[in-house]
Amino acid sequence: MAQLWGGRFTKETDQLVYQFNASLSFDQRLYKEDIAGSRAHVRMLAAQGILTEDERDEIVKGLDGIEADIESGKLVFSEEYEDIHSFVEANLIDRIGDTGKKLHTGRSRNDQVALDMRLYTRSVVNETDHLLQELLRALLTKMEENLDTVMPGFTHLQKAQPLTLAHHLGAYYEMFRRDRSRMRDIAVRMNECPLGAGALAGTTYPLDRKMTAAELGFFGPTRNSMDSVSDRDYLIEYLSGASIIMMHLSRFCEEIILWNSDEYKFVEIDDAYSTGSSIMPQKKNPDIAELVRGKTGRVYGALMALLTTMKGLPLAYNKDMQEDKEFAFDAMDTVQGCIRLFTGMLSTLTFRPERMEKSARGGFTNATDAADYLVNHGVPFRDAHGIIGRMVLHCIDQGKALDDLTLEEFKSFSEVFEEDIYDAIAISTCVNRRLTDGAPGRAAMEKVIEERKLELEHTERFNAV
Ligand code: ARG
Repeated sequence: MAQLWGGRFTKETDQLVYQFNASLSFDQRLYKEDIAGSRAHVRMLAAQGILTEDERDEIVKGLDGIEADIESGKLVFSEEYEDIHSFVEANLIDRIGDTGKKLHTGRSRNDQVALDMRLYTRSVVNETDHLLQELLRALLTKMEENLDTVMPGFTHLQKAQPLTLAHHLGAYYEMFRRDRSRMRDIAVRMNECPLGAGALAGTTYPLDRKMTAAELGFFGPTRNSMDSVSDRDYLIEYLSGASIIMMHLSRFCEEIILWNSDEYKFVEIDDAYSTGSSIMPQKKNPDIAELVRGKTGRVYGALMALLTTMKGLPLAYNKDMQEDKEFAFDAMDTVQGCIRLFTGMLSTLTFRPERMEKSARGGFTNATDAADYLVNHGVPFRDAHGIIGRMVLHCIDQGKALDDLTLEEFKSFSEVFEEDIYDAIAISTCVNRRLTDGAPGRAAMEKVIEERKLELEHTERFNAV
């Protein structure tokens, strides 16, 4: 055990207590952020005359060496250190001797860990946004390829009205676009620097918090030292945004699993994204889609865990907050991995337009259009609804579609029907006449795609420090 705080104690820590308390096994992934924070802190201490320039240079060189050795594998995280902060500081002292003991001047592990976690989350927010951008690109390509691919639209999982695959995919485009905008909101709100808040009440040293904030790419320092060390809102916001992303991915996966089934056959998942069965040789299973759907629970779990951990904490820092890490890291890895895999699965998915169109032709998806035809010829909508309802019943009896009826049969339900009814209820007409903003008609869709494409290529990366 190599602890930073032995002075006040007369007994060794119990071994089980030590293990229970330690966090190095999971906070080691913060080493880059911890070292970056220390570098900024030391440069500021020197600028303020708290350390000499020589001391600064010695410490920065030591920190650079630690970072390089961790990266090359020369320096391994050994269990004798309590957490990443102790690990880096103890290593620094081993390397450069007494000057290393000055690193922690005017700082506490409370503002240190608050900074590390914020820096780490900030880069994850940035990366998640980037992955979503890639997914949106893949979606847009598929949308452009399928502007004329007719498929049934569903409500209650019952065929409702015909639309296009481009339009169906476009619904997911909007969801993931909102997910991106959530990431960007979080990135702005969280971008204040807690370093310099000390344990909870600032310090008596003349720290220049604006300087460290600027060096670390923050808009400026946080404004209340107690809040700075005890705020994990930004992490809860990320987990909440991540949960919504998973919910969207999960819905999309559910549809792909349905569409990939023998009953639908709307899509075929690429061999590279499917798996086989150990017993049934004929099987090709959509395991990747199912796993993404399944992992959604894990990410929701991380959100619930952190909300619950935080809910009863008095100000300011409490050790409970160390529990912000394991689930959050797991959720970050999970959501990023899922977006990556899903993008690959979507890009290689084969759609079967003939199956989709055939399905759209069944199930009376043009019944609303038939009613609209009557309305356009002066029949009040409620009457038209009744007439078409009776015609559908007749067709179900006869095993026919509306289009299969002869003009005489049409006329036996309403005198208003003429030869042009066939064109009016043709599937492609039904789709392409829907031209209100946001509707599936080709011209309406083209407008939206154009808009979204322009926006997608013009959104820059943010907060890349
Ligand atoms: N490992 C701790 C955490 O993750 C670091 C902060 C420790 N601070 C303290 N006062 N014990 O929260």
